[in-house]
Amino acid sequence: MGSIIQAAEFIPVATTEQLKDGALMEAKAGDRRILLARVGDKYYAAESNCPHMGARLADGALEGTVLTCPRHASKFDLTDGRIIRWTDWTGIKASVSKLFRSPRSLTIYPVKVEGNNILVKL
Ligand code: FES
Repeated sequence: MGSIIQAAEFIPVATTEQLKDGALMEAKAGDRRILLARVGDKYYAAESNCPHMGARLADGALEGTVLTCPRHASKFDLTDGRIIRWTDWTGIKASVSKLFRSPRSLTIYPVKVEGNNILVKL
């Protein structure tokens, strides 16, 4: 058997030393980029770019498991990807933006830790 990685396998993306409690980082998972977050001893993985307009989420802010996008402050819960707030735009700006960008939750990936390795299943 070769070393071809199956789509459903967990693959190592970072080590626990690379990610401090409360921190966000971008990591490579195969040929894709993902977002990693650590809250206490729990690790979360999600798509790396905001579902609104693609901002790099590793530059966002983390409060508990709630991630805030650095660009227009949409908020997502990293436990399940649900939207807590879709942009900080209000009024007409918000209605216009919603015509073009329907709210979409964040894609979350399963994570496990083995030894010092953080593994993600895409
Ligand atoms: S790009 Fe993230 S809220 Fe707009």
